[in-house]
Order: sequence, then C-alpha cells, then structure tokens
Amino acid sequence: MKSPLPEDARKVTGEALQGALVDLIDLALVAKQAHWNLVGPHFRSLHLQLDEVTSAARQYTDLVAERAVAIGVTPDGRASTVAATTGLPQIEAGWVRDSDVVKKFIEIYGAVIDRMRQRIQVTAESDLVTQDILIDVTKDLEKQYWMFQAQQ
Ligand SMILES: [Fe+2]
Repeated sequence: MKSPLPEDARKVTGEALQGALVDLIDLALVAKQAHWNLVGPHFRSLHLQLDEVTSAARQYTDLVAERAVAIGVTPDGRASTVAATTGLPQIEAGWVRDSDVVKKFIEIYGAVIDRMRQRIQVTAESDLVTQDILIDVTKDLEKQYWMFQAQQ
C-alpha cells in the first residue's frame, strides 16, 4: 500500500490514529457497560444517552481506522490491544448509580478529550487531513462532555 505521506509523517500520524482508535473503542465499551448496569432515578434518560455515546463512538472508530488504512497503516482494534493500551479511566464491575455514572463520564470525557487534543497538535505537523478528522471527532466529544457536565 503506497502511503500519500512520507515515512516520518506516516509513522507519527499512524500512532495518533491508533491511539485514537483504542480510546474510542473503549469509550463505546465503557458506555455499554454503564448502559447495562445503571440504577437510580435518572435511569431512563441516562440509559438512552449512554447508547448515543456508544453509537457515536463506533462511528468515530470507523473513521479513524479507515484513515489509518488510507495512509498505509494497519489499525489494531483487537480486544487485547484495547485492554493493554487504553487511556480511559475504567468503571468498576457491577451496578452503577446514575450520579456516579455522570461523574465517571465527565472524568472519561476529560481524559479522552485531552488525549485527542494532543493528537490534534501532533498531526498539525504530520498530516492536516488526519488532523481534520481528529478535530471533527473531538468537536463531537466536547459536545457530549458538556451534556454530561450539565447533568451534575
Ligand atoms: Fe440497550
């Protein structure tokens, strides 16, 4: 596969996309975990909101994975890779109260947005087309971050 990028830029951009892929796969997983185990008076709205998080995150994973392929980098979305390299705060197994879920997702979004913004900085040098995708995804993540913060 011939990359449109020179080797150095391909490597740096590929690392940014791989990191984003792992974090976003994990975001989809952690949202489903909370969706299933949620309890509390705000169950209904939060249960639905968490499914929106999962479906958005799954769309982002496809965007970043296919951008990686387009620059000649193979995306690694295996469960073992996600478990070993995710940068997201984790949630405990078992029931989770609605108020704790809101707090936890504020923490999760804070972490993933910080990491995405670092990738936006890195790709400013290495590949503006990839940077554009990361900006789009981060814009959505920051909207969802606001929506969790507004529920406190
Ligand atoms: Fe469901």
